[in-house]
Amino acid sequence: MKVFAGSASRFLAQKVARKLAKELSTLEHHVFPDGEKRLRVVDKVVDEDCVVVQSTSTDADKNYMELFFIVDALKRGRAKSITAVIPYLGYQRQDHVFRTGEAASLDVIIKIIEAVGVDKVITFDLHSIRIPELFHIPVAHLSALPLFAEKIRALRSLRDTPRANDTVLVSPDMGGIRRIKILSTMLGNIPYAAIEKDRDLKSGKIEAQRIHGTVKKQAIIVDDMISTGRTIVVAAELLNKKGADEIIVFATHPVFSKDAHILLQNSKVKKVFVTDTIDIPKEKYFSKLEVLSVAETIAEILMHSNKNNPNIS
Ligand code: R5P
Repeated sequence: MKVFAGSASRFLAQKVARKLAKELSTLEHHVFPDGEKRLRVVDKVVDEDCVVVQSTSTDADKNYMELFFIVDALKRGRAKSITAVIPYLGYQRQDHVFRTGEAASLDVIIKIIEAVGVDKVITFDLHSIRIPELFHIPVAHLSALPLFAEKIRALRSLRDTPRANDTVLVSPDMGGIRRIKILSTMLGNIPYAAIEKDRDLKSGKIEAQRIHGTVKKQAIIVDDMISTGRTIVVAAELLNKKGADEIIVFATHPVFSKDAHILLQNSKVKKVFVTDTIDIPKEKYFSKLEVLSVAETIAEILMHSNKNNPNIS
C-alpha cells in the first residue's frame, strides 16, 4: 500500500502513514505563474493499492482539483486501487437543491470523484447521514464520536464528586440530535438537550431561540463542524444565561472561517476540542483549543480493508 498526502492534509497523512509503519510516497507539485498546478507521482504505483489523503476545506475548489489530479496520475500509473481519504468533504452542506435555480454542488463533486477513478472514499462526520447514498462507489463514513466519548470520560473523571453527574450534552441545533443521542448512549445515557437555532441566509446572523431539555452546570456542546464559530458562540451565551457555568465544545471539523478562532477564544466557552480532519493553520490556533487525532481511526480502517480483501496488500 502507498500513502500520498495532498497539500491540504500533510500532517494528518504523515500521522496515518506512521500508524501504518510506512513512509509517505512522493509527489512533485509545481505551480505555474498563473496559478495552474502540475502534479506528478514520482513513485511507481503499478499494481499498488494507493491511498490519497486530502481534506477539502478552504480553499475547497483548489483542494478538490489537486485531489483529482493526484488520482488521475495514479490511475495513469496503473495503480490497482485508489482510496481517497477526504476527512472533511467540502460542499457537503450543499447536498441537495434548497431553492429553485441552485446547483446541486455536492452532486457535481461526487460525479467528478467517481469519474476520475476513485474506488473508495473514507470520510468523517458528514453533515447528513444520507450523503453516502449519493455515491456509486463505497463510502466509509467514520465518526469522531468515540474519540469524543473517551475524552469526555477522562474530563468527567477529573471533576469533583458532587458535580460528577451534573453534565448535559447539547446539540447547538435541532439537526444534531441524532449525533447527541449516539454520544449520550456511548457515555451511559448522559442527559442531552438541543437548541433551536435560526440562521438568516443573507446576513449569516444566528439566533439561538430556546433550549429543549434541562441545562446543567456543565454543558458539553457537540457539533459536526465549526465554520464561522457563530453557532457555538450563540449557543454558549444561551447556555450560560440558563445556568451552565462550564461550557465545553467538541466539533469534528475545524473549518474555522474568518475570525472563528478569535470569536471562540473570547466566548463563554472554556475549552474547544476539534480533530485533525482539517490541518489548522498556525495563525488560527488559540489557547482554548485542543486537537484530537483521527489518524488511528483511518489507519485501522485501511488495515481492516486489507484483511477483508486479499487483493489489497
Ligand atoms: C449546521 O447545521 C452545522 O452543524 C454547524 O452547526 C454549522 O455549520 C456551524 O457553522 P458556523 O460555525 O458558521 O455557525
